[in-house]
Amino acid sequence: MLTAEKMTASHLYDILKHIKVGGSVCHYSLKKCEEFVPLINEINELKEEKKAVILAHSYVSPEIIYGVSDFVGDSYQLSKDAMSTNVKTIVFAAVRFMGETAQILNPEKEVLIPASDDGCTLADSITNEKVRELRLQFPDYTFVCYINTSAAVKAECDVCVTSANAYKVVELIPNDKIYFLPDQMMGMNIQNAFKEKGSKKDIQYYSGTCYVHVEYGAQEIFKIRTEYPEVKVISHPECSPAVIANSDFVGSTNQMLDYMLKSSDKDFLMLTECGLSSRLQVEMPHKRLVGSCTLCKFMKSNALENILRVLKNPTRRDRVEIPKEIQARALKCVEAMFRYTEG
Ligand code: 13P
Ligand code: SF4
Repeated sequence: MLTAEKMTASHLYDILKHIKVGGSVCHYSLKKCEEFVPLINEINELKEEKKAVILAHSYVSPEIIYGVSDFVGDSYQLSKDAMSTNVKTIVFAAVRFMGETAQILNPEKEVLIPASDDGCTLADSITNEKVRELRLQFPDYTFVCYINTSAAVKAECDVCVTSANAYKVVELIPNDKIYFLPDQMMGMNIQNAFKEKGSKKDIQYYSGTCYVHVEYGAQEIFKIRTEYPEVKVISHPECSPAVIANSDFVGSTNQMLDYMLKSSDKDFLMLTECGLSSRLQVEMPHKRLVGSCTLCKFMKSNALENILRVLKNPTRRDRVEIPKEIQARALKCVEAMFRYTEG
């Protein structure tokens, strides 16, 4: 996050040396930092010259977060950050649906995606044609899409949500019939939460899953709890209902970090992508991380080399391009989320 002064390898190593999660991709040595630093400094110079900002989701590699990013956060926070900047170019180190959301909200800005594999198993699980079919099958339902969807899918839906506001938005929608897509796990979790409250909301959902979060099971939690009885289990709403039922806190990636920051507990099991565990180790080194985490290959396909390349010489594929008519309809869906969330 240094832009004005040049980053040195020892400074970067000082930040990253606490990280010990996942495989070798998340272990840092001074030598590795020496390799990153020339790229980091070149990106930061070019960024200023081109009047660009770099937005990074918490799941991308730590050398991006701590070396070149101007904004780091969850998908809700980053959507707002994308609107708050007065720049020509946004480089969005994340996955395509996040870059598309930034473009929907900022049609006049150039949005570049430096991920070499910018997919997402949730966003890729449903098409706009499928939503149109579902709307014919469920004509009285309000269609709520997770932000992890393409612009074309958002254009077919009534309101978008993120992991930070899904329960609140669904509660505020003045229709008891809700069709949630595409995450089956989140759909079930929302349905369970409303059932528990005795709400009569009828919540139908689609069958998509996140390949990272669907892998966690309650057994993992029970095992960790026997070893570390004081552990706090923090999970993402894309996890299964069994995981959610056995967690101490469930929230978006920003909300998970916030919970840990405010908590006086020491041991945490974080059931989400390793990027968040890395942030915990850098930003709260006095807390202890127990258990394991999982990598998202899409988020981890962002690399400093790609950021430099898209800043220097963006190709058509790097640029987000959304047809005007889709952008206008998708914007209505995203704006509805802001209205419900911010009041
Ligand atoms: P957040 O909005 O909570 O960061 O989640 C995004 C995501 O893709 C989780 O897998
Ligand atoms: Fe998509 Fe899952 Fe990766 Fe998040 S972690 S970007 S939902 S594949």
